[in-house]
Amino acid sequence: LASIEVDVSAVEEGQSITVKWRGKPVFIRNRTETEVEEAKSVPVSQLPDPLARNANLPPDAEADDVNRGVEGKENWLVQVGICTHLGCVPLGDAGDFGGWFCPCHGSHYDTAGRIRKGPAPENLLIPPLEFVSDSTIKIG
Ligand code: FES
Repeated sequence: LASIEVDVSAVEEGQSITVKWRGKPVFIRNRTETEVEEAKSVPVSQLPDPLARNANLPPDAEADDVNRGVEGKENWLVQVGICTHLGCVPLGDAGDFGGWFCPCHGSHYDTAGRIRKGPAPENLLIPPLEFVSDSTIKIG
């Protein structure tokens, strides 16, 4: 399927689900306020990859938290669950930065899915998406 619609009404704050889109895992997380605040507090200049990697924004958009989240719904983070190093699937609620950890070679992603430590060169990719209702996300 080129695009999918996902009902996220049952995903509570602090929970994640994984869906399949074009054969790839996509992580959808309802972030806590603390997670959002942590992500916002990091200057882009400190990030190994300063680009948002958000298919919904221009390619040169910076990786601040606003550009990683969903406009008007900053608690939601939707990203392709494939490590940008060599393609393993990172684990959630793990790693040194409270986000995702890729056990293959030790890449740590933060609460905005941005690479912070380890060999992965890029932030986790944000696919084309939009909220088509208050609790339904269309991906693709
Ligand atoms: Fe994730 Fe190498 S594939 S760290």
